[in-house]
Amino acid sequence: MTTKSYILGFGSYAPERILTNTDLESLVDTTDEWITTRTGIKQRHMAAEGETTSDLGAKAAMNALASAGLAAKDLTHILVATCTPDAMCPSTACLIERKLGVSGLMAVDLNAACSGFLYALNLAQGIVAMNADAKVLVVAAEVLTRRLNWNDRSTCVLFGDGAGAAIVSARPNEGRTVEIADCLLSSDGALGDLLLISGGGTSIPYKHGDSVGDEFFVRMEGREIFKHAVRSMARVCEELLTRNGIKREDVDMLLPHQANLRIIEAVGKKLDIPAEKVFVNLQEYGNTSAASVPLALADADSKNMLPAGRTILLTTFGGGFTWGAALLRT
Ligand code: UT7
Repeated sequence: MTTKSYILGFGSYAPERILTNTDLESLVDTTDEWITTRTGIKQRHMAAEGETTSDLGAKAAMNALASAGLAAKDLTHILVATCTPDAMCPSTACLIERKLGVSGLMAVDLNAACSGFLYALNLAQGIVAMNADAKVLVVAAEVLTRRLNWNDRSTCVLFGDGAGAAIVSARPNEGRTVEIADCLLSSDGALGDLLLISGGGTSIPYKHGDSVGDEFFVRMEGREIFKHAVRSMARVCEELLTRNGIKREDVDMLLPHQANLRIIEAVGKKLDIPAEKVFVNLQEYGNTSAASVPLALADADSKNMLPAGRTILLTTFGGGFTWGAALLRT
């Protein structure tokens, strides 16, 4: 991409309510020990009754605006990555626009499951390349706990609710540069059946008065996804580093999708990036799908872990299948 693009600010939000592994022991046949050793997750946040994806997204957006030193009226576009929108229509992006108290923006949702943030970031790069004055709000928000089957211990212990946001522009902030140096994204629709929430759309519609079935909730083949996730994230990272002429030892931070600590460790190992350079916060949030990478970025930023002069490698994997990687330079 010839026009450069920059992140002006990061923001995140997670609901107040916390569900610990110990809380889950009284809901399903599981243990803190199993969840901790198999996934690394210790707790997850859960939206309150009536709290929606756009509520979380709008709060993350406001935090990103504050971090960028901007007001909502400065925005020109809103891209929202989610697979748990408030509704089929209107879009969560339009609902966030309304909650930010603005109008007249281009506002649209996109669904690339857990990879949604990186997909939206790449689309934001395209928008600022076409319009040098654009200020694109990229939000990734999920309330996956409403789409979990609480009778399925193999999935319900994994996910949590949250939102992350970033503002993308063709020019950096004064005094701080976070360049989106490159993005590489991919997908394989043939593997879609391994991870799905199929009910409620046009393929498995519900008629008025029907009760929802298991298809309405997350279903997945965990072990298969595990293998694909490790392989795809490691491969796409290698390709991105190679095409940018960056050696593995020059990566200062690997920030991967926060689904499972064992997946994260395996990707780090395949890339030869030592554990101390790998950012992990899934113990606090669980897998928040599209929100996981921007939530982790905002978390790292709030801990002053993104100072000037760093090369940061982001990578993600999710339903579709979709996956990708992005390079940030501070
Ligand atoms: O965001 C992208 C989407 N998702 C992912 O990235 C998830 C990828 N997959 C994973 O993270 C892992 O495969 C899981 C965490 C889902 C499962 O870990 P695993 O080591 O692959 O376990 P498994 O599915 O092979 O199950 C091992 C055992 C089974 O019992 P048996 O058949 O060995 O007796 C399961 O029934 O663990 C049992 N099990 C549980 N036990 C206690 C499954 N879930 C639980 C649970 N508590 N919550």
